[in-house]
Amino acid sequence: MSKKLIIANWKNYPESLAQAQEILEFTNDYLESLSEKKEFSLVFCPPFVFTEEVSKILKTSHLEHEAFLGAQDIAIEDKALEVSGPMLTKLGVGYVIIGHSERRWKLGESDKVVNQKLKSALRNTMVPIVCIGEKTRDAGFKQFLENQILKTFEGLTADEVGRCIVAYEPVWAISTNPNSRPDTPSSALESISYIRDILNTKYNILDTQFLYGGSVNSKNAESFLKEKEIDGVLVGGASVNKEEFVKIIDIASKI
Ligand code: PGA
Repeated sequence: MSKKLIIANWKNYPESLAQAQEILEFTNDYLESLSEKKEFSLVFCPPFVFTEEVSKILKTSHLEHEAFLGAQDIAIEDKALEVSGPMLTKLGVGYVIIGHSERRWKLGESDKVVNQKLKSALRNTMVPIVCIGEKTRDAGFKQFLENQILKTFEGLTADEVGRCIVAYEPVWAISTNPNSRPDTPSSALESISYIRDILNTKYNILDTQFLYGGSVNSKNAESFLKEKEIDGVLVGGASVNKEEFVKIIDIASKI
């Protein structure tokens, strides 16, 4: 079984750099306590204001081998008003979350903008973590997923699509959604298998890495991570609680 990938999507937390350092130190202490063989990789996606500091900390001790740096967003253009790909890569950012549901639904980021940001990430040789997910699980959810995938990947070559990680995150399961409830592994697997079929039909790709995201915590992480079709988890709220986050890593290490 391949290494499970655990992505910490810190959103606009923690509230201070000191707290960010605490989470990383706590994680480092946990890594130190493990025997040599690690069956997981970690990616920390801090808010931009902490990126430089987190980048420095990740170059130290045990984190250096197990943990990578990610970003929560990227500008469409390389010379832009926003935080651009070249700026991020200079800081050592190797992964970037693209099309997160809160950007799509709260900030009104269209499929076209998501597609342009995805191209920007690829142009800057970062690994895009592409978020895909329906707003409601109704009779039309598969059609919705198909449209979202085709528009998100529009104009990409099969090779480029093959460089993406797909995070299946049903919007109704994200913890910031007031009525959120975690998905069940079986319905997440149904969606993942459907998305895999689309990628296979259109791009002839069968080995995409899939993450599940949406209210993942230490109580439900195992039920998702033990599925061989789920290569990891994208964790929001629980990733800024150091004890909770390390419990999730510990679960991944034992799968
Ligand atoms: P959550 O967030 O784990 O807090 O639901 C996941 C995400 O929004 O990526």
